[in-house]
Amino acid sequence: MRLNFKHEWIETNIGLMLVLTMLAISVGGLVEIAPLFFINKTVEKVEGINVRPYTPLEQRGRDIYTREGCYTCHSQMIRPFVDEKLRYGHYSLAAESQYDHPFQWGSKRTGPDLARVGGKYSNEWHVQHLIAPRSMVPESVMPNYPWLMQNLDLSDLEGRMKALRAVGVPYSLTEAEREANVEKFGAEVAAQLHIPDAKKNLVEQANLGNYDGNKAGVSEMDALVAYLQVLGTMVDFTKVNEDELVRTR
Ligand code: HEC
Repeated sequence: MRLNFKHEWIETNIGLMLVLTMLAISVGGLVEIAPLFFINKTVEKVEGINVRPYTPLEQRGRDIYTREGCYTCHSQMIRPFVDEKLRYGHYSLAAESQYDHPFQWGSKRTGPDLARVGGKYSNEWHVQHLIAPRSMVPESVMPNYPWLMQNLDLSDLEGRMKALRAVGVPYSLTEAEREANVEKFGAEVAAQLHIPDAKKNLVEQANLGNYDGNKAGVSEMDALVAYLQVLGTMVDFTKVNEDELVRTR
């Protein structure tokens, strides 16, 4: 009763109401904003973590992954629980998705988590599984994606990379940026990140990797399988020191 009385008193005192409203907003704002000052420390820099942006082919595969809505059934974030670690491997680190726009952490798992699926199966397995999941896993409820064998559209490749560059992915446009990438990632990776050569690099990786098992042309399957095969492979957990991880957080 007393509480109700005070409330009415506040609500009928416009000055006091304003002051208290401002106070509530300031505290709420501070709680939201303060963590952003420490965001740089959230991404761990420790030995064994060698995360690079996706190559043009992998990035196009990622675009297809989002286009097809794979995230509606698959997460890409291993949570720090024992059962998750036993099933999928080490829990996901912030560093692993630092170049992911949009991130694919997800919260829905009709199918298994895919954060570390890279290298788990052969390319042939993925191709067959994507075209007809039930031919590999009879009880699967995953849809068939037979149209992924169609040619990959390369017309807007550079535009897509420029958009990602605008949000902070270090794809290079100028010589200076390319040299900065050589310093950061080494010459081989830096060459893959250079936007003016994107088309050439994409076709080269697809032909070399032959992800879809068909040498002619570059299919969407080439891109998607290249993407799936790189997931979770950029961190070498045999080199990661757990104590160091905790300290940098
Ligand atoms: C309707 C839900 C659903 C959708 C949408 C879906 N999947 Fe799946 N996925 C599953 C289920 C269930 C499994 C487990 C059974 C199996 O292996 O087929 C699975 C398994 C997988 C596996 C094997 C994972 C492992 O560790 O064994 C991969 C890889 C995969 N899906 C990729 C994809 C990709 C890529 C897409 C989008 C093109 C996709 N999935 C869309 C439900 C889905």
